[in-house]
Amino acid sequence: MTDTREGKTLDDFVLDMDGPSFLVDPHPTYRWLRENAPTYQWQARHTVVFSRYRDVKAILNDRRFSNNYRAWEFAQPEQWPPELIDFQKLLDNGLSLLPDHRHGPVRRLVSSSLTVRSVERMQTRIQQVVDELIDTAVEGDRLNLTKFAETLPTRVICDLLAIPAEMREDLCAFGLAAARSANIALPPDELIASISPTPRWVAMLRRVIADRRENPREDDLLSTLIMARDEGAKLTEEELLSLVFTFFVAGGDSTKNAITWGVRTLLRHPADLAEVQRDPSLWRNAAEETLRFEMFAKSGFPKYCTEAMEFAGVSLRKGQMVLPLIAAALRDGEAFPDPDRFDIRRDLRQTISFGSGQQTCLGAALARMQLVTALGTLFRRFPDMKPLGEPEFEPHPLIRSMKKFEVALH
Ligand code: HEM
Repeated sequence: MTDTREGKTLDDFVLDMDGPSFLVDPHPTYRWLRENAPTYQWQARHTVVFSRYRDVKAILNDRRFSNNYRAWEFAQPEQWPPELIDFQKLLDNGLSLLPDHRHGPVRRLVSSSLTVRSVERMQTRIQQVVDELIDTAVEGDRLNLTKFAETLPTRVICDLLAIPAEMREDLCAFGLAAARSANIALPPDELIASISPTPRWVAMLRRVIADRRENPREDDLLSTLIMARDEGAKLTEEELLSLVFTFFVAGGDSTKNAITWGVRTLLRHPADLAEVQRDPSLWRNAAEETLRFEMFAKSGFPKYCTEAMEFAGVSLRKGQMVLPLIAAALRDGEAFPDPDRFDIRRDLRQTISFGSGQQTCLGAALARMQLVTALGTLFRRFPDMKPLGEPEFEPHPLIRSMKKFEVALH
Protein backbone atom coordinates (compact mmCIF):
# COMPACT_ATOMS: atom_id res chain seq x y z
CA MET A 1 0.00 0.00 0.00
CA THR A 2 1.38 3.37 -0.92
CA ASP A 3 1.57 5.87 1.87
CA THR A 4 1.09 9.28 0.34
CA ARG A 5 0.61 11.15 3.60
CA GLU A 6 2.53 14.00 5.18
CA GLY A 7 6.32 13.77 5.48
CA LYS A 8 6.90 12.71 1.88
CA THR A 9 9.12 14.73 -0.42
CA LEU A 10 8.26 15.26 -4.07
CA ASP A 11 10.89 12.66 -5.03
CA ASP A 12 9.36 9.84 -3.03
CA PHE A 13 5.72 10.82 -3.41
CA VAL A 14 3.69 8.37 -5.50
CA LEU A 15 0.12 9.24 -6.45
CA ASP A 16 -2.05 6.15 -6.16
CA MET A 17 -5.79 6.79 -6.44
CA ASP A 18 -6.75 3.12 -6.30
CA GLY A 19 -5.04 2.03 -3.07
CA PRO A 20 -7.23 1.11 -0.08
CA SER A 21 -6.08 4.02 2.10
CA PHE A 22 -6.92 6.54 -0.62
CA LEU A 23 -10.38 5.07 -1.17
CA VAL A 24 -11.33 5.39 2.49
CA ASP A 25 -9.60 8.74 3.13
CA PRO A 26 -7.94 10.59 0.24
CA HIS A 27 -7.73 13.90 2.08
CA PRO A 28 -4.16 13.60 3.44
CA THR A 29 -3.05 12.99 -0.15
CA TYR A 30 -5.06 15.94 -1.48
CA ARG A 31 -3.66 18.16 1.28
CA TRP A 32 -0.11 17.08 0.49
CA LEU A 33 -0.64 17.91 -3.17
CA ARG A 34 -2.16 21.34 -2.45
CA GLU A 35 0.67 22.23 -0.10
CA ASN A 36 3.67 20.65 -1.84
CA ALA A 37 2.87 20.17 -5.52
CA PRO A 38 -0.26 22.13 -6.55
CA THR A 39 0.68 21.48 -10.17
CA TYR A 40 1.83 17.89 -9.95
CA GLN A 41 3.42 16.20 -12.97
CA TRP A 42 1.90 12.71 -12.87
CA GLN A 43 4.48 11.09 -15.13
CA ALA A 44 2.87 7.65 -15.12
CA ARG A 45 -0.26 9.14 -16.73
CA HIS A 46 1.40 11.92 -18.81
CA THR A 47 -0.82 14.41 -17.08
CA VAL A 48 -0.65 17.45 -14.80
CA VAL A 49 -2.76 17.32 -11.65
CA PHE A 50 -4.17 20.57 -10.24
CA SER A 51 -5.40 20.57 -6.65
CA ARG A 52 -5.89 24.20 -5.53
CA TYR A 53 -9.34 25.72 -5.69
CA ARG A 54 -8.30 28.74 -7.76
CA ASP A 55 -6.57 26.61 -10.45
CA VAL A 56 -9.31 23.98 -10.59
CA LYS A 57 -12.02 26.61 -10.95
CA ALA A 58 -9.99 28.48 -13.58
CA ILE A 59 -9.63 25.28 -15.65
CA LEU A 60 -13.36 24.54 -15.44
CA ASN A 61 -14.07 28.05 -16.74
CA ASP A 62 -11.46 28.14 -19.49
CA ARG A 63 -12.67 27.07 -22.95
CA ARG A 64 -9.11 26.07 -23.94
CA PHE A 65 -9.65 22.92 -21.84
CA SER A 66 -11.96 20.52 -23.62
CA ASN A 67 -13.86 17.41 -22.48
CA ASN A 68 -13.43 15.83 -25.89
CA TYR A 69 -11.10 12.86 -25.40
CA ARG A 70 -10.40 12.84 -29.12
CA ALA A 71 -8.36 16.01 -28.50
CA TRP A 72 -5.95 13.94 -26.34
CA GLU A 73 -2.39 13.72 -27.67
CA PHE A 74 -2.45 9.90 -27.43
CA ALA A 75 -5.97 9.40 -28.83
CA GLN A 76 -6.15 6.48 -31.28
CA PRO A 77 -8.78 6.06 -33.99
CA GLU A 78 -11.32 3.74 -32.42
CA GLN A 79 -11.96 0.35 -33.91
CA TRP A 80 -15.08 -1.03 -32.36
CA PRO A 81 -16.25 -4.54 -33.14
CA PRO A 82 -19.50 -4.52 -35.19
CA GLU A 83 -21.62 -5.71 -32.25
CA LEU A 84 -20.68 -2.56 -30.33
CA ILE A 85 -21.54 -0.06 -33.08
CA ASP A 86 -24.75 1.03 -31.31
CA PHE A 87 -22.79 1.70 -28.16
CA GLN A 88 -20.19 3.68 -30.10
CA LYS A 89 -22.94 5.83 -31.66
CA LEU A 90 -24.28 6.65 -28.22
CA LEU A 91 -20.83 7.86 -27.20
CA ASP A 92 -20.21 9.74 -30.47
CA ASN A 93 -23.38 11.79 -30.12
CA GLY A 94 -22.80 12.45 -26.43
CA LEU A 95 -22.42 15.98 -25.11
CA SER A 96 -18.68 15.87 -24.56
CA LEU A 97 -17.98 14.95 -28.19
CA LEU A 98 -20.34 17.45 -29.79
CA PRO A 99 -18.63 20.26 -31.68
CA ASP A 100 -18.71 23.65 -29.94
CA HIS A 101 -21.40 25.09 -32.22
CA ARG A 102 -23.73 22.20 -31.26
CA HIS A 103 -22.80 21.78 -27.58
CA GLY A 104 -24.24 25.17 -26.51
CA PRO A 105 -27.71 24.75 -28.11
CA VAL A 106 -28.06 21.12 -26.95
CA ARG A 107 -27.07 22.11 -23.39
CA ARG A 108 -29.60 24.93 -23.39
CA LEU A 109 -32.36 22.59 -24.58
CA VAL A 110 -31.65 20.17 -21.75
CA SER A 111 -31.02 22.70 -19.00
CA SER A 112 -34.30 24.45 -19.71
CA SER A 113 -36.00 21.09 -19.04
CA LEU A 114 -34.11 20.31 -15.83
CA THR A 115 -34.34 23.60 -13.96
CA VAL A 116 -34.70 23.80 -10.20
CA ARG A 117 -38.40 24.67 -10.68
CA SER A 118 -39.14 21.76 -13.00
CA VAL A 119 -37.33 19.38 -10.65
CA GLU A 120 -39.32 20.75 -7.69
CA ARG A 121 -42.47 19.63 -9.45
CA MET A 122 -41.11 16.06 -9.31
CA GLN A 123 -40.56 16.15 -5.57
CA THR A 124 -43.69 14.18 -4.62
CA ARG A 125 -42.89 11.43 -7.09
CA ILE A 126 -39.23 11.25 -6.00
CA GLN A 127 -40.41 10.94 -2.40
CA GLN A 128 -42.68 7.98 -3.37
CA VAL A 129 -39.82 6.23 -5.18
CA VAL A 130 -37.46 6.78 -2.23
CA ASP A 131 -39.99 5.29 0.22
CA GLU A 132 -40.70 2.32 -2.01
CA LEU A 133 -37.01 1.54 -2.63
CA ILE A 134 -36.13 1.83 1.05
CA ASP A 135 -38.82 -0.78 1.77
CA THR A 136 -37.28 -3.19 -0.73
CA ALA A 137 -33.72 -2.63 0.57
CA VAL A 138 -34.61 -3.41 4.20
CA GLU A 139 -33.45 -6.90 5.13
CA GLY A 140 -34.63 -7.70 8.67
CA ASP A 141 -33.02 -5.17 10.97
CA ARG A 142 -30.48 -3.96 8.42
CA LEU A 143 -30.59 -1.85 5.27
CA ASN A 144 -28.59 -2.56 2.14
CA LEU A 145 -27.71 1.05 1.50
CA THR A 146 -25.78 0.52 -1.72
CA LYS A 147 -28.68 -1.41 -3.24
CA PHE A 148 -31.09 1.41 -2.41
CA ALA A 149 -28.73 4.16 -3.60
CA GLU A 150 -27.89 2.38 -6.85
CA THR A 151 -31.48 1.80 -7.86
CA LEU A 152 -32.84 5.25 -7.04
CA PRO A 153 -31.29 7.36 -9.87
CA THR A 154 -32.26 4.81 -12.53
CA ARG A 155 -35.84 4.61 -11.31
CA VAL A 156 -36.10 8.38 -11.16
CA ILE A 157 -34.84 8.83 -14.74
CA CYS A 158 -37.31 6.20 -16.01
CA ASP A 159 -40.04 8.09 -14.19
CA LEU A 160 -38.94 11.41 -15.62
CA LEU A 161 -39.09 10.01 -19.11
CA ALA A 162 -42.49 8.43 -18.38
CA ILE A 163 -41.39 5.03 -19.65
CA PRO A 164 -44.51 2.88 -20.23
CA ALA A 165 -45.22 0.40 -17.43
CA GLU A 166 -44.57 -2.72 -19.53
CA MET A 167 -41.07 -1.51 -20.51
CA ARG A 168 -40.13 -0.08 -17.17
CA GLU A 169 -38.43 -3.11 -15.69
CA ASP A 170 -36.32 -3.68 -18.81
CA LEU A 171 -35.34 -0.04 -19.21
CA CYS A 172 -34.46 0.29 -15.53
CA ALA A 173 -32.22 -2.76 -15.90
CA PHE A 174 -30.63 -1.03 -18.89
CA GLY A 175 -30.15 2.11 -16.82
CA LEU A 176 -28.17 0.14 -14.27
CA ALA A 177 -26.17 -1.62 -16.99
CA ALA A 178 -25.51 1.70 -18.76
CA ALA A 179 -24.31 3.25 -15.52
CA ARG A 180 -21.93 0.33 -15.10
CA SER A 181 -20.65 0.67 -18.67
CA ALA A 182 -19.02 3.96 -17.64
CA ASN A 183 -16.78 1.97 -15.33
CA ILE A 184 -13.97 0.93 -17.64
CA ALA A 185 -12.10 -0.54 -14.66
CA LEU A 186 -14.59 -3.40 -14.43
CA PRO A 187 -13.36 -6.89 -15.28
CA PRO A 188 -13.75 -7.30 -19.10
CA ASP A 189 -16.58 -9.84 -18.86
CA GLU A 190 -18.62 -7.53 -16.60
CA LEU A 191 -17.92 -4.57 -18.87
CA ILE A 192 -19.03 -6.45 -21.97
CA ALA A 193 -22.10 -7.71 -20.11
CA SER A 194 -23.04 -4.11 -19.31
CA ILE A 195 -22.58 -2.96 -22.92
CA SER A 196 -24.00 -5.93 -24.82
CA PRO A 197 -27.73 -5.22 -24.28
CA THR A 198 -27.32 -1.83 -26.03
CA PRO A 199 -28.92 -2.69 -29.43
CA ARG A 200 -32.05 -4.08 -27.78
CA TRP A 201 -32.41 -1.08 -25.49
CA VAL A 202 -31.76 1.42 -28.27
CA ALA A 203 -34.51 -0.24 -30.30
CA MET A 204 -36.84 -0.04 -27.31
CA LEU A 205 -36.06 3.63 -26.70
CA ARG A 206 -36.63 4.41 -30.38
CA ARG A 207 -40.10 2.92 -30.05
CA VAL A 208 -40.80 5.02 -26.96
CA ILE A 209 -39.56 8.17 -28.76
CA ALA A 210 -41.62 7.45 -31.89
CA ASP A 211 -44.71 6.92 -29.77
CA ARG A 212 -44.07 10.09 -27.77
CA ARG A 213 -43.71 12.12 -30.98
CA GLU A 214 -47.20 10.95 -31.92
CA ASN A 215 -48.65 11.32 -28.44
CA PRO A 216 -46.77 14.00 -26.52
CA ARG A 217 -47.57 14.22 -22.80
CA GLU A 218 -47.54 17.15 -20.47
CA ASP A 219 -44.72 17.46 -18.00
CA ASP A 220 -42.58 14.54 -19.00
CA LEU A 221 -38.95 15.12 -19.82
CA LEU A 222 -38.94 13.12 -23.03
CA SER A 223 -41.85 15.08 -24.59
CA THR A 224 -40.19 18.32 -23.48
CA LEU A 225 -36.89 17.34 -25.08
CA ILE A 226 -38.58 16.16 -28.29
CA MET A 227 -40.44 19.45 -28.65
CA ALA A 228 -37.78 21.80 -27.28
CA ARG A 229 -36.28 24.29 -29.67
CA ASP A 230 -33.36 26.65 -29.24
CA GLU A 231 -33.18 29.39 -31.83
CA GLY A 232 -34.79 27.03 -34.29
CA ALA A 233 -32.42 24.14 -33.45
CA LYS A 234 -33.92 20.83 -32.33
CA LEU A 235 -32.30 17.71 -30.99
CA THR A 236 -31.69 15.03 -33.58
CA GLU A 237 -32.92 11.54 -32.77
CA GLU A 238 -29.33 10.36 -32.24
CA GLU A 239 -28.60 13.26 -29.87
CA LEU A 240 -31.78 12.47 -27.97
CA LEU A 241 -30.82 8.81 -27.56
CA SER A 242 -27.33 9.79 -26.39
CA LEU A 243 -28.76 12.26 -23.90
CA VAL A 244 -31.01 9.66 -22.33
CA PHE A 245 -28.02 7.32 -22.15
CA THR A 246 -25.93 10.11 -20.55
CA PHE A 247 -28.60 10.72 -17.92
CA PHE A 248 -28.23 7.11 -16.83
CA VAL A 249 -24.43 7.11 -17.01
CA ALA A 250 -23.69 10.56 -15.57
CA GLY A 251 -26.48 10.39 -13.01
CA GLY A 252 -26.05 6.75 -11.91
CA ASP A 253 -22.83 6.11 -9.98
CA SER A 254 -22.55 9.78 -9.02
CA THR A 255 -25.93 9.99 -7.28
CA LYS A 256 -25.48 6.53 -5.75
CA ASN A 257 -22.19 7.51 -4.13
CA ALA A 258 -23.47 10.94 -3.13
CA ILE A 259 -26.07 9.11 -1.02
CA THR A 260 -23.82 6.42 0.44
CA TRP A 261 -20.99 8.84 1.30
CA GLY A 262 -23.57 11.32 2.58
CA VAL A 263 -24.99 8.75 5.01
CA ARG A 264 -21.51 7.71 6.17
CA THR A 265 -20.44 11.33 6.72
CA LEU A 266 -23.51 12.16 8.79
CA LEU A 267 -23.14 8.99 10.88
CA ARG A 268 -19.60 10.10 11.68
CA HIS A 269 -20.78 13.56 12.78
CA PRO A 270 -23.54 12.82 15.30
CA ALA A 271 -23.84 16.39 16.65
CA ASP A 272 -24.53 17.78 13.15
CA LEU A 273 -26.88 14.90 12.44
CA ALA A 274 -28.84 15.61 15.63
CA GLU A 275 -29.06 19.30 14.64
CA VAL A 276 -30.47 18.61 11.17
CA GLN A 277 -32.86 16.04 12.62
CA ARG A 278 -34.17 18.73 14.99
CA ASP A 279 -34.43 21.30 12.20
CA PRO A 280 -35.14 19.65 8.81
CA SER A 281 -34.92 23.05 7.07
CA LEU A 282 -31.14 22.51 7.31
CA TRP A 283 -31.20 19.42 5.08
CA ARG A 284 -30.47 21.29 1.86
CA ASN A 285 -27.26 22.84 3.16
CA ALA A 286 -26.30 19.72 5.11
CA ALA A 287 -26.57 17.58 1.96
CA GLU A 288 -24.50 20.10 0.00
CA GLU A 289 -21.86 20.06 2.74
CA THR A 290 -21.62 16.24 2.56
CA LEU A 291 -20.74 16.68 -1.14
CA ARG A 292 -18.03 19.22 -0.32
CA PHE A 293 -16.63 17.35 2.65
CA GLU A 294 -16.51 13.90 1.08
CA MET A 295 -16.52 14.46 -2.69
CA PHE A 296 -16.30 10.90 -3.99
CA ALA A 297 -15.03 11.76 -7.49
CA LYS A 298 -11.36 10.83 -7.26
CA SER A 299 -9.87 12.98 -9.97
CA GLY A 300 -12.66 14.95 -11.65
CA PHE A 301 -13.19 14.68 -15.37
CA PRO A 302 -9.99 14.73 -17.45
CA LYS A 303 -9.67 17.79 -19.71
CA TYR A 304 -7.57 18.13 -22.87
CA CYS A 305 -5.63 21.26 -23.93
CA THR A 306 -6.84 22.53 -27.29
CA GLU A 307 -3.68 24.65 -27.63
CA ALA A 308 -0.20 24.92 -26.10
CA MET A 309 -0.23 27.37 -23.18
CA GLU A 310 1.30 28.57 -19.93
CA PHE A 311 -1.14 27.94 -17.11
CA ALA A 312 -0.64 28.43 -13.35
CA GLY A 313 3.11 28.52 -13.93
CA VAL A 314 3.36 25.31 -16.00
CA SER A 315 3.78 24.77 -19.73
CA LEU A 316 1.07 22.60 -21.21
CA ARG A 317 1.29 20.90 -24.61
CA LYS A 318 -1.50 20.95 -27.16
CA GLY A 319 -3.44 17.70 -26.57
CA GLN A 320 -2.06 17.22 -23.07
CA MET A 321 -4.42 15.80 -20.45
CA VAL A 322 -4.91 17.70 -17.19
CA LEU A 323 -6.76 16.61 -14.07
CA PRO A 324 -8.56 19.32 -12.09
CA LEU A 325 -9.13 17.65 -8.69
CA ILE A 326 -12.51 19.02 -7.65
CA ALA A 327 -12.40 16.91 -4.45
CA ALA A 328 -9.07 18.48 -3.41
CA ALA A 329 -10.27 21.99 -4.30
CA LEU A 330 -13.33 21.53 -2.08
CA ARG A 331 -11.00 21.14 0.93
CA ASP A 332 -8.88 24.20 0.10
CA GLY A 333 -8.85 26.64 3.03
CA GLU A 334 -8.57 29.58 0.62
CA ALA A 335 -12.16 28.98 -0.49
CA PHE A 336 -13.56 27.18 2.57
CA PRO A 337 -12.20 28.35 5.94
CA ASP A 338 -11.33 25.50 8.33
CA PRO A 339 -11.90 23.11 5.42
CA ASP A 340 -11.53 19.82 7.32
CA ARG A 341 -14.41 20.69 9.63
CA PHE A 342 -17.79 19.29 8.62
CA ASP A 343 -20.22 22.15 9.14
CA ILE A 344 -23.83 21.88 8.01
CA ARG A 345 -24.27 25.65 8.31
CA ARG A 346 -21.25 26.51 6.16
CA ASP A 347 -21.55 29.17 3.44
CA LEU A 348 -21.35 27.05 0.29
CA ARG A 349 -21.88 29.67 -2.38
CA GLN A 350 -18.40 28.93 -3.75
CA THR A 351 -18.93 25.21 -4.04
CA ILE A 352 -17.93 23.45 -7.24
CA SER A 353 -19.21 19.93 -6.49
CA PHE A 354 -21.17 20.08 -9.76
CA GLY A 355 -18.40 21.77 -11.73
CA SER A 356 -18.37 25.34 -12.98
CA GLY A 357 -18.65 27.15 -16.30
CA GLN A 358 -19.34 25.67 -19.70
CA GLN A 359 -19.72 22.01 -18.65
CA THR A 360 -21.47 22.47 -15.30
CA CYS A 361 -23.55 19.44 -14.38
CA LEU A 362 -26.89 19.43 -16.16
CA GLY A 363 -28.41 17.14 -13.56
CA ALA A 364 -27.39 19.19 -10.50
CA ALA A 365 -30.96 20.15 -9.49
CA LEU A 366 -32.14 16.58 -9.94
CA ALA A 367 -29.18 15.11 -8.04
CA ARG A 368 -29.67 17.58 -5.18
CA MET A 369 -33.37 16.75 -4.96
CA GLN A 370 -32.62 13.01 -4.80
CA LEU A 371 -29.85 13.46 -2.25
CA VAL A 372 -31.88 15.69 0.08
CA THR A 373 -34.95 13.44 -0.18
CA ALA A 374 -32.94 10.23 0.36
CA LEU A 375 -30.93 11.52 3.34
CA GLY A 376 -33.91 13.24 4.95
CA THR A 377 -36.13 10.16 4.60
CA LEU A 378 -33.52 7.63 5.74
CA PHE A 379 -32.69 9.55 8.93
CA ARG A 380 -36.36 10.32 9.64
CA ARG A 381 -37.44 6.70 9.26
CA PHE A 382 -34.38 5.23 10.98
CA PRO A 383 -33.10 7.86 13.42
CA ASP A 384 -30.83 5.34 15.18
CA MET A 385 -29.09 3.97 12.10
CA LYS A 386 -25.54 2.65 12.71
CA PRO A 387 -22.92 1.57 10.18
CA LEU A 388 -22.28 -2.19 9.93
CA GLY A 389 -18.52 -1.99 9.50
CA GLU A 390 -16.57 -0.10 6.88
CA PRO A 391 -17.76 0.11 3.25
CA GLU A 392 -16.36 -2.27 0.64
CA PHE A 393 -15.14 -0.63 -2.57
CA GLU A 394 -15.23 -1.66 -6.21
CA PRO A 395 -12.63 -0.74 -8.84
CA HIS A 396 -13.70 2.48 -10.58
CA PRO A 397 -11.69 4.88 -12.76
CA LEU A 398 -13.35 8.06 -11.53
CA ILE A 399 -15.14 7.46 -8.26
CA ARG A 400 -14.43 6.11 -4.78
CA SER A 401 -17.32 3.82 -5.44
CA MET A 402 -18.88 1.75 -2.69
CA LYS A 403 -19.74 -1.80 -3.60
CA LYS A 404 -21.30 -2.65 -0.28
CA PHE A 405 -22.28 -0.56 2.70
CA GLU A 406 -24.92 -1.77 5.11
CA VAL A 407 -26.42 -0.12 8.14
CA ALA A 408 -28.17 -1.51 11.22
CA LEU A 409 -31.56 0.13 11.62
CA HIS A 410 -31.84 0.12 15.43
C1 HEM B 1 -24.28 14.05 -6.93
C2 HEM B 1 -24.39 13.71 -8.20
C3 HEM B 1 -23.64 14.37 -9.32
C4 HEM B 1 -22.43 15.01 -9.30
C5 HEM B 1 -21.48 15.25 -8.11
C6 HEM B 1 -22.18 15.46 -10.66
C7 HEM B 1 -21.06 16.17 -11.05
C8 HEM B 1 -20.81 16.63 -12.33
C9 HEM B 1 -19.69 17.43 -12.72
C10 HEM B 1 -18.57 17.89 -11.77
C11 HEM B 1 -19.81 17.68 -14.04
C12 HEM B 1 -18.92 18.58 -14.88
C13 HEM B 1 -17.82 17.80 -15.58
C14 HEM B 1 -16.88 18.70 -16.32
O1 HEM B 1 -16.43 19.75 -15.86
O2 HEM B 1 -16.56 18.31 -17.41
C15 HEM B 1 -21.02 17.01 -14.51
C16 HEM B 1 -21.47 17.02 -15.82
C17 HEM B 1 -22.64 16.44 -16.23
N1 HEM B 1 -23.60 15.83 -15.43
FE1 HEM B 1 -23.48 15.54 -13.44
N2 HEM B 1 -23.24 15.09 -11.45
C18 HEM B 1 -24.16 14.44 -10.67
C19 HEM B 1 -25.40 13.95 -11.08
C20 HEM B 1 -25.92 14.05 -12.35
C21 HEM B 1 -27.26 13.64 -12.76
C22 HEM B 1 -28.32 13.07 -11.82
C23 HEM B 1 -27.36 13.88 -14.11
C24 HEM B 1 -28.52 13.67 -15.07
C25 HEM B 1 -29.57 13.01 -14.86
C26 HEM B 1 -26.10 14.45 -14.54
C27 HEM B 1 -25.81 14.82 -15.84
C28 HEM B 1 -24.65 15.44 -16.24
C29 HEM B 1 -24.38 15.79 -17.62
C30 HEM B 1 -25.28 15.52 -18.82
C31 HEM B 1 -23.11 16.41 -17.63
C32 HEM B 1 -22.34 16.93 -18.85
C33 HEM B 1 -22.60 18.39 -19.09
C34 HEM B 1 -21.89 18.90 -20.35
O3 HEM B 1 -20.99 18.23 -20.88
O4 HEM B 1 -22.23 20.00 -20.81
N3 HEM B 1 -25.25 14.54 -13.45
N4 HEM B 1 -21.64 16.39 -13.44
